[in-house]
Amino acid sequence: MKTVLIGFGFIGRSLVNTIRKKIDILKKKKIDFKLVGIGELAGYAYDDDGLNLDYVSSLNDLSKHSESFFKGKTSVELIEKSEADLLIETTPTNFLSGEPGLTHIKTALDIGIHVVTSNKGPLVLAFKKLSNLAEKRGVELKYEATVAGALPIFTMVKNCLQGDTIQKISGILNGTANYILSKMYFDGTSFDLALKEAQERGITEKDYTYDVEGIDATCKVVILANSLMGRNVKFNDVDRVGISRVTPEAVSLAKRSGYTIKLIGTIDKDLEVTPKLIPENHPLCVHGTLNALHIETDLAREITIIGYGAGRETVSAMVNDIISVSNSNNRIK
Ligand SMILES: NC(=O)c1ccc[n+]([C@@H]2O[C@H](COP(=O)([O-])OP(=O)(O)OC[C@H]3O[C@@H](n4cnc5c(N)ncnc54)[C@H](OP(=O)(O)O)[C@@H]3O)[C@@H](O)[C@H]2O)c1
Repeated sequence: MKTVLIGFGFIGRSLVNTIRKKIDILKKKKIDFKLVGIGELAGYAYDDDGLNLDYVSSLNDLSKHSESFFKGKTSVELIEKSEADLLIETTPTNFLSGEPGLTHIKTALDIGIHVVTSNKGPLVLAFKKLSNLAEKRGVELKYEATVAGALPIFTMVKNCLQGDTIQKISGILNGTANYILSKMYFDGTSFDLALKEAQERGITEKDYTYDVEGIDATCKVVILANSLMGRNVKFNDVDRVGISRVTPEAVSLAKRSGYTIKLIGTIDKDLEVTPKLIPENHPLCVHGTLNALHIETDLAREITIIGYGAGRETVSAMVNDIISVSNSNNRIK
């Protein structure tokens, strides 16, 4: 499976490192994984025989891969010249323009390359267009890592609930907001202090308002609604209230009555991201940086999945997507 990776940051590097360690699992599944190119801002590394995973994993600066680094060349050029079977897209999320990921994904799908991505932006802006394009070209578009990191929500619903009608999805979709609210619940601290601690632990986005004003969770609500509930909604269709006005007094009052305050994304008739009172014995009452998704369907009734929504664990979802692509009916060329 000839593969190009665009975006060699935290997720891109963690993924290469994981595949390097798990290459035997891929081989057992008869997947001949060959990473031929890695694109970053400064240019790309390319070797038609396959880049050495041990070597590229060890590099802090990819351009040091001197004999195969093409400085000043763009990732779009890499996708176009690669004749790859698979694009892995892990550039930063931009939910306003979708770029640069939107162009990378469109380019790949258009020339018949499967896509696995962790980047929410392109899906928030153009879910229908990209899914239709993938279908038209007979290739896969996989995005398990975009919502709730390692939690296999799309795989579970699409593979295990094929006869069910999904009636409602609600969940904790941002681990940083959950960390802050948990800190306020257990330690009685103020929002500002809990936010400061989250920043010191390095778990906030560069722009922390993405976490605390529910922007990141809203992107995930849009992707879930469009992917799992057949909707065609945009970011502004979601009613959004963040957690910055949640006071320690409100948290403590709720606690005295057996409730917690959680930032909940809901996909029902209406779409919203808002702080809600959750009973302490409800399955969505999970603490720290955990994510949780609660699905209500006609047949199974209620299913909750809980786990890590960000960080290194996200790679689990991407490796599974890569294996699924190689097993799909849309055969690798
Ligand atoms: N981190 C997580 O836990 C997590 C979990 C789930 C999903 N995600 C999503 O996964 C994606 C990657 O996250 P990350 O944490 O790995 O981010 P990151 O560390 O910032 O990595 C992104 C990489 O993409 C590069 N890049 C930027 N523009 C590019 C372009 N035009 N062409 C090629 N490369 C470009 C960046 O280079 P520079 O550094 O030089 O700008 C950086 O190396 C994001 O969309 C994020 O929302 C992340």
